[in-house]
This record gives sequence, C-alpha cells and structure tokens, in this order.
Amino acid sequence: MAIEKTFSIIKPNAMKKNAIGDIISMFEANGLKIAAAKLTILSKAKAEEFYAEHKARPFFGELVSFMTSGPVLLMCLAGENAVAKNREIMGATDPKKANVGTIRAKFGDNMGENAVHGSDSPTSAERELSLFFEKSEICNL
Ligand code: CMP
Repeated sequence: MAIEKTFSIIKPNAMKKNAIGDIISMFEANGLKIAAAKLTILSKAKAEEFYAEHKARPFFGELVSFMTSGPVLLMCLAGENAVAKNREIMGATDPKKANVGTIRAKFGDNMGENAVHGSDSPTSAERELSLFFEKSEICNL
C-alpha cells in the first residue's frame, strides 16, 4: 500500500507536560514515521489561517489564543493509512470521550486544550502541510 502523509501538531498544553517523547513513541509504536518536524511558536496570523474553517465558531478566539500561547511541535507523519491511523492514536476531539490509551485521553485537558491536532482527510493534510513546510523539507522515507 502507498505511503500516506498527514500533518500533526503537539499543542502548547502537551508541550508544557514534557510529553513530546511519549507522543512520538506512540506514533512510532503504531508504524508512523516523522518525515518532518519544526518546533516553533505560531503567530496569530498563521494560527488564524490554519483554523480558518472555524472562524465563525464561538471558540475561535480562544482556540487561536491557546495555540499561540507557547511552543508547538509541527510534524509530517508518514506511513500506511497515516491520516486515519493518526486520528485513531489521537482519540476523540474531546479528551473526556477519547478511548483509554489514546494521546488525548492521556494528555488532553479539555476540548480546546486537547494535546494534539491531526488532519481529518488527505486533502486537509496536503493543505495543512503546505502551510508549514516546503516540499523540500519533507523527507521521503
Ligand atoms: P483540532 O483537531 O486542532 O481542530 C479544531 C480544534 O478546535 C479542535 O482540535 C479543538 O481543539 C477545537 N474545538 C473544537 N470544538 C470545540 C469546542 N466546542 N470548544 C472549544 N474548542 C473546540
């Protein structure tokens, strides 16, 4: 099967918990590889552009403010069925509803501060990866 790529963010609350190693171990244990990574603090403009589809939602301001509140780790994950596999490893958006053993059940605090982001489709993955990475920055593993 073809290798798929998806976009992942370790959010500021999980970064504060020193959980980078634990989260990446979960990706690797499930067959996903890190094909690109960048540790950065998002600008307000970039966070607003990234979450543009949620602009009209009541939580938009809070989401942007949280996502720019501290360092994040931006990644390209690669592997078979990477989009779906990453969503399974992350668990449900609301950490209270996430299955035991998933990243959000372990490190999420609430709907907004839910530890990680992952693309919801291959089309979103392409758009999201292109917002943060040049093609030349993504390794073909
Ligand atoms: P993420 O996967 O980054 O994609 C959009 C984000 O919006 C989502 O994770 C949540 O962090 C956030 N979000 C979605 N619904 C709500 C909500 N009802 N209240 C607060 N934040 C939300």
